[in-house]
Amino acid sequence: MFQRAVSRETLDVLAASDPRARRSRRDLRRVNRIMGTCGILIRGMQPAIERCARDLPLRVLELGAGDGSLMLRAAQALSKSWPAVQLTLLDRQALIDASTCAAFARLGWRVQTLIVDVLDWVAAPTPVHLPPRWDVIVANLFLHHFNDIELPEVLRVIAARCNLFVACEPRRAPLSLIGSHLIGAVGASRVTREDAVLSVHAGFRDAELSTVWPHDHGNWQLQEHSARLFSHFFRADRRGLSATEIA
Ligand SMILES: C[S@@+](CC[C@H](N)C(=O)[O-])C[C@H]1O[C@@H](n2cnc3c(N)ncnc32)[C@H](O)[C@@H]1O
Repeated sequence: MFQRAVSRETLDVLAASDPRARRSRRDLRRVNRIMGTCGILIRGMQPAIERCARDLPLRVLELGAGDGSLMLRAAQALSKSWPAVQLTLLDRQALIDASTCAAFARLGWRVQTLIVDVLDWVAAPTPVHLPPRWDVIVANLFLHHFNDIELPEVLRVIAARCNLFVACEPRRAPLSLIGSHLIGAVGASRVTREDAVLSVHAGFRDAELSTVWPHDHGNWQLQEHSARLFSHFFRADRRGLSATEIA
C-alpha cells in the first residue's frame, strides 16, 4: 500500500476570487454530494444530537469550512433537532458569502467566521469571544492537508477544545485513487482533478488517525473506518461528561 504523501494542493494557493478557485469550489460541492459526505457527517454528529438539550445553543466549529455549503446542507437536515446552534466556520480564506449566512440565520443558526490559518489557531490560546470547548468540531477534506509533524499538534489542540470531533477525509486506497483519476467524468475542472489525486495520496486508512489522537485530554471513544466508496471516517467522542460540562 502506498505511503502517505502530503503535497500542496492548487486550490490552497489560488486567491478566493480566481475563476479557477471558484470553479473548483463548485466542483467540491458536487463531489461532496456524490460522496454522500453530508450524511456521513450527520451520522458522525449523532452523539451530540442525542446529548443536546434543546434549550441550549450547541457550539459547533467547522475547520477548513470552505464556502460553508456543506455545513449549510447539514444545518438544513439538523435544524429540527438542533434549533439553536452557535456555529463558527474557520478557514484561512474568507469564502462565506452573505446569502450563506442568511440561510443559516433562517434556520436559527448563529454564524461567525474565523479567518485564520488553523496552525495559528492551534498555537494561540482560545480568544475570549470563543467557547473554551466546543460541543462539536467537524472537518471535511481538511486533516489531509497536514503532514506527520503538524497533524499530532492539530489533533492535540482539537482534543483539548471539544467534546466530539468528527472528520471525513479521503481514503488512501486503490479504489479512491481510481475514483480520483476518473473525477473528470463528473465535469471536474483541471484544478479539482489534480487536487483530488493529491488528496488521496495525503489521505488516511486503517487506524492512522486513532494512533495519533492524544489520550491526555479525557476519556475518548474512538471510531475509525472507511465510509462509502472513497472516504475515511474518524470520530472521537469524549466519554463521561458531567451535566455542567455538557452545558
Ligand atoms: C478541500 S477544501 C474543503 C472545504 C470544505 N470543508 C468542503 O468540504 O467543501 C479545504 C479547505 O481547507 C482550507 N484550509 C487548508 N489549509 C488550511 C489551514 N492551514 N488553515 C485553515 N484553513 C485551511 C482551504 O482554504 C479550503 O477551504
